[in-house]
Amino acid sequence: MSKVLIIGAGGVGNVVAHKCVQAAETFSEVLLATRTRAKADSIAAQINSPRLTTARLDADNVAETVALIRSFQPAIVINVALPYQDLAIMDACLETGVHYLDTANYEPPHLAKFEYSWQWAYHDRFKERGIIAVLGCGFDPGVTGIFTAHALKHHFDEIHYLDIIDCNAGSHGQAFATNFNPEINIREITQKGRYYENGSWIETEPLSIHRDVTYPHIGPRDSYLLFHEELESLVKHIPHLKRARFWMTFSQQYITHLRVLENVGMTRIDPVVYEGKEIVPLQFLKAVLPEPSSLGENYEGQTSIGCQIRGIKDGKEKTYFIYNNCDHAVCYREVKAQAISYTTGVPAMLGAKMVLDGKWTGAGVYNVEQFNPDPFLAELGGYGLPWHEEVNGALAFE
Ligand SMILES: NC(=O)c1ccc[n+]([C@@H]2O[C@H](COP(=O)([O-])OP(=O)(O)OC[C@H]3O[C@@H](n4cnc5c(N)ncnc54)[C@H](OP(=O)(O)O)[C@@H]3O)[C@@H](O)[C@H]2O)c1
Repeated sequence: MSKVLIIGAGGVGNVVAHKCVQAAETFSEVLLATRTRAKADSIAAQINSPRLTTARLDADNVAETVALIRSFQPAIVINVALPYQDLAIMDACLETGVHYLDTANYEPPHLAKFEYSWQWAYHDRFKERGIIAVLGCGFDPGVTGIFTAHALKHHFDEIHYLDIIDCNAGSHGQAFATNFNPEINIREITQKGRYYENGSWIETEPLSIHRDVTYPHIGPRDSYLLFHEELESLVKHIPHLKRARFWMTFSQQYITHLRVLENVGMTRIDPVVYEGKEIVPLQFLKAVLPEPSSLGENYEGQTSIGCQIRGIKDGKEKTYFIYNNCDHAVCYREVKAQAISYTTGVPAMLGAKMVLDGKWTGAGVYNVEQFNPDPFLAELGGYGLPWHEEVNGALAFE
């Protein structure tokens, strides 16, 4: 039984808090800390458990986080604030000797670039301190890496081709909204695409490559090739990969809005002077878009995220598909969140549970595919994300 500190009380933080309170056998006390305390308080009022308390915290300030950790004494910190806070929170964990977990890799605020180098550079310091940092433990990155590790352990001798496919076939009734933090989401989508093939990274213009992909229980959807952070770690940790790609669905309505916003300069991340004050257009846009946590109430339809894999088992070619479908309305009934927040928050709680239950061990900085996938996948369905597999079926890609 251990205490957990959750940092960030947005759409994902809400789900992590609900799930940590549910998993009472591991998490004895839960502290939800965030920049705007009223948001944590409203989540706590909804959950209404004596084991959940709240605090105000600016996690950019390492000394403040260190002081909060020292007073609450958690065994692990779950970081579901923004990627900008990753390094500051890792510094605070190093100073206090507390385990760390996040769902998105570090991005410098002034450069729309995400890669693991900054966080991997902490490996030796975490190792010396005898603590563990689990990177990217949401759904994608997160479960997609664990699905791939499971495929390698139980279905293949060599994985050659990996396509991660991510569909949101839900409808929230808004003309334009993003399902997680708008600033982070738009920075990700407006970047160049990138995929790995035969030892090199191939760059593509943003959203320039798309295919119809048929998703289980949903049907065909236009899916766009993007760079996604788990590609970088999977290429490093899964041997024999010849190609690794990531695909995500977007509606025409979403893409049209995004193009207009880009064309008029609203997705810029460099400051502009407005009435004598510097503002960042993308940050202003975030302020006028719906909060991801507010989208749940009228959301209908499902998400479907999975890994399509081709490789070799016992000298023969084999195909394999592993996926989860998640229903927005069912999530809302359970924890007042839409499925994107839910599919991120459940794995974050479960990854922390793996560390505290002693099922994921070690000291240093790790991506999720480096751990044993079995105990995680054994519990994932019970916490609301059942998974399914198809062996030697047809895949969407050659
Ligand atoms: N791996 C995956 O599958 C996956 C999927 C979706 C999202 N994510 C990641 O999950 C994270 C949370 O997403 P979300 O949709 O919950 O975003 P969100 O709704 O915008 O919530 C972010 C929360 O972090 C808080 N925060 C921001 N800066 C902070 C600081 N300096 N100190 C303390 N708290 C701070 C915000 O507080 P304020 O409200 O006061 O600003 C807000 O409560 C993001 O990093 C996102 O990239 C991962």
